[in-house]
Amino acid sequence: MEQTFIMVKPDGVQRNLIGEIVQRFEKKGYTLKAAKLMDVSNALAEEHYGEHKDKPFFGELVGFITSAPVFAMVWEGENVIKTARSMMGSTNPAEAQPGTIRGDYGVEVAKNVIHGSDSPESAEREIGLFFNESDILSYKKDI
Ligand code: CMP
Repeated sequence: MEQTFIMVKPDGVQRNLIGEIVQRFEKKGYTLKAAKLMDVSNALAEEHYGEHKDKPFFGELVGFITSAPVFAMVWEGENVIKTARSMMGSTNPAEAQPGTIRGDYGVEVAKNVIHGSDSPESAEREIGLFFNESDILSYKKDI
């Protein structure tokens, strides 16, 4: 079954959006496999956002994600990588459709509430950066 990495960014944590975001994924039907509130180190931020290292906003991006705790999660389900991206909406909240997480809760591209893996390769890499194998749990939902 497919897994993806989802992270509520510092702005989402501080605006008390963790519960709302978790609820959207739960109600959609996905399974929460791991979750933690954590500070992101500079090294982890630079590795996680490595593909953006030549972009002019890289310093701002790393500075923001390391500024306050994030809520990191692994979600599992059919097509969860692609579907989570549509639930999140466009990267720039100004362009995100109403009804999506960024469309409903975001204003600025730099503070866009949530991150989600954009491909199976990114999901595997990002889950591995933020979690140990033993953090990813299995359980029955129908007990
Ligand atoms: P995310 O999905 O976490 O992946 C890369 C992030 O870079 C993206 O969300 C945005 O928050 C951020 N980003 C993209 N464009 C800009 C920009 N022009 N200025 C600041 N941050 C940006």
